[in-house]
Amino acid sequence: KTASIVGCPFSGGQPKVGVDQGPIHLVEAGLIDQLKELGWNVKFDGHHQFEEINTANDPPIGKLKNPRYVSRVCQSVAQAVGEHAKNGELPVTLGGDHSLAMGTISGTFEAHPDACVIWVDAHADINTAETTESGNIHGMPVSFLLGLPGNDHKPNEFGWVKPVLRTDRLVYIGLRDIDSGEKKILKDNNIRAFSMHEVDKYGIGKVVEMALDHVNPNRDRPIHLSFDVDALDPSVAPSTGTPVRGGLTFREGHYICEALWETGLLVALDLMEVNPSLADDVSVQQTVAVGCSLVRSALGETLL
Ligand code: ARG
Ligand code: MN
Ligand code: MN
Ligand code: MN
Repeated sequence: KTASIVGCPFSGGQPKVGVDQGPIHLVEAGLIDQLKELGWNVKFDGHHQFEEINTANDPPIGKLKNPRYVSRVCQSVAQAVGEHAKNGELPVTLGGDHSLAMGTISGTFEAHPDACVIWVDAHADINTAETTESGNIHGMPVSFLLGLPGNDHKPNEFGWVKPVLRTDRLVYIGLRDIDSGEKKILKDNNIRAFSMHEVDKYGIGKVVEMALDHVNPNRDRPIHLSFDVDALDPSVAPSTGTPVRGGLTFREGHYICEALWETGLLVALDLMEVNPSLADDVSVQQTVAVGCSLVRSALGETLL
């Protein structure tokens, strides 16, 4: 079994500097060796390289900020993840901001067209080019992957993003900060979401079971787990750009990773939005350590 680390020092999908340092900190904290200790053959030949674009040459298109830069980086990430996946390796993408999931999920579907996506996040990241209030593309990748209607006006730059994802192959866990436009999209498209309310009501064990029953009723579809570290409560993962109170506990976050590993169906993992330049040193260390430990759990640490 081989895991391929795709470190993506990229922050163009949102305005805060520092999230590009997330993957560098995760690797420096020893993640590669930790995965080797779990028995994985780990491929990592340095962080993913992409063309830097001077954002002065990348003015907004409609509301979207840094559209060309985000698109090009995501396209190259799609290629990298797709190649690893087709080689039978498990791509572990370290962000970087969550716009990158446009690339990682596109790559996964190249190798596994019948995959499903479990999106763990405080946010739904499903704004369209029409509904986005911020213009930050990290709040939009899901809508592009679904090919939602409000994206008819999305820049041509994003033409390479195919609507690979179906609404019934997507499920959310951990939501608690959804824009009003996003609420309508979730409702109109019947997208299944387990917010923190459901986590409180049913407990995380039942929530993961219900989420799998929805996207993967026969437990035969490959699973892509896209984990935004801000799904965790800010007391657990403080160093992130858009923290929201009332999130998953340390154990709830790890439980999700363990339970998905346990299915034997995990084919790709994203760990996104670790921003080591936000908060004090202790908080940064804590967030990076939690990030590493989520990845280890998803790769079988406690259940080997
Ligand atoms: N919904 C807000 C937006 O569209 C916040 C998105 C936060 N996304 C994230 N990946 N942290 O800008
Ligand atoms: Mn988020
Ligand atoms: Mn909001
Ligand atoms: Mn996110």
